[in-house]
Amino acid sequence: MTTGVVFNPFVPSFRANPYLQLGRLREGDPVHRSQALQAWVLTRYDDCLRVMKDAETFSSDVMQAGGALAAALREQRRETPLGETRTVLGSDPPVHTRLRSIVNRAFTPRRAAALRPHIEDVTASLLAQAPDSGEWDLMKGLAQPLPVIVIAELLGVPSEDREQFRHWSNALAATTNLLQDAATRQGAVAAAQELRGYLEAVVVERVAAPRDDLISALLEAEADGARLSRDEVLAFAVLLLVAGNETTTNLIGNGTLLLAEHPEAMQALRDDPEGVPNAVEEMLRYDSPVQGLVRFVARDTEIAGQAIKKGDVLICMIGGANRDPRQFTEPERFDIARVENRHLSFGQGIHFCLGAPLARLEADVAFRGLLARWPGIRLAEGGAERGGTFLLRGPSRVTLAVGR
Ligand code: HEM
Repeated sequence: MTTGVVFNPFVPSFRANPYLQLGRLREGDPVHRSQALQAWVLTRYDDCLRVMKDAETFSSDVMQAGGALAAALREQRRETPLGETRTVLGSDPPVHTRLRSIVNRAFTPRRAAALRPHIEDVTASLLAQAPDSGEWDLMKGLAQPLPVIVIAELLGVPSEDREQFRHWSNALAATTNLLQDAATRQGAVAAAQELRGYLEAVVVERVAAPRDDLISALLEAEADGARLSRDEVLAFAVLLLVAGNETTTNLIGNGTLLLAEHPEAMQALRDDPEGVPNAVEEMLRYDSPVQGLVRFVARDTEIAGQAIKKGDVLICMIGGANRDPRQFTEPERFDIARVENRHLSFGQGIHFCLGAPLARLEADVAFRGLLARWPGIRLAEGGAERGGTFLLRGPSRVTLAVGR
């Protein structure tokens, strides 16, 4: 069936503002067949939620999936060191249940909350390096370094190596374009190799002498008598680096751009910083750092009357769902005081983001720090440049005019 609604995520205007195309799909062709992506593209809240909550029908495990796109993705994994080792993100029950219950014991909300003083110190020292007035790049100065320093600290690796970490993490995150060129693939394989070597040395040290860090906790954590293998610990550490880095960077970048576009919201948060956590939820909804989740169809089904076959690939467009008027009142309005806000930016169901407490904490500290640092912040002329991939959305540069 053709509906006449055009969807092309590869044009520059999509990167600038995906919400126009996503809105058209949501209203005109909510279960869209994309030839370019060889996948079904879902843009309604209820459809996305149903897919996220039904892991039996909608699998996350590319190693088990049928279909041409899955086969291509699987091939890429095979080339990548640890690519075939299961992680929570890329597995279904019962493997997911086993892995998640073990990592839940090591990566607790308490471990995240205990990082607050450290996150405050790092934020303060990054902001202290910024000029008192003039132009300042938020991405280089705060949004990029903060999450990588925090993850390095969490894992227990020296934060001096953070530039190296960022490089590896970026190279791996670049593969979230789904269909990528050979250079991107080779970059990701090389990064995974180096990162594996680096982390393996840390694991060997921690086996000999455990410390109070996440890698030691992961090596020790046990659920129902099961532990993670060494490869599983390594693959999980790599996943944390990728899943926790660019996403949080993008949240700080997207959120700052939104505040710059909405000076009244910025002023309200200056007057009452206690509003920051609620504002962060609205930033997550309005301009989600993760725009899409990929699932592989494990058995024949239907979505909104459309037959979907076993082996098909589905992409839940969070950016479409988060602005669905069937779920949110005035979804196109950026409202930092929004009360009903069950956005899907951290996913839903069994794969719900393990790092959500940490990401919320980092964003809270970052925005409070940013607003307190200068009496005034605005976007410099031509200050914003969009980066990101098809699945991850964030700016590559946000030059702010800081001062009064
Ligand atoms: C604003 C920042 C973040 C956003 C928007 C985000 C988003 C998401 C989303 C949408 C999922 C679900 C994936 C799926 O269902 O396929 C997810 C899963 C996950 N996230 Fe995050 N994330 C963020 C930060 C973090 C951080 C800081 C960490 C860790 C340090 C992290 C670790 C994970 C892990 C391990 C999973 C897999 C959970 C599972 O499959 O059981 N994330 N995240």
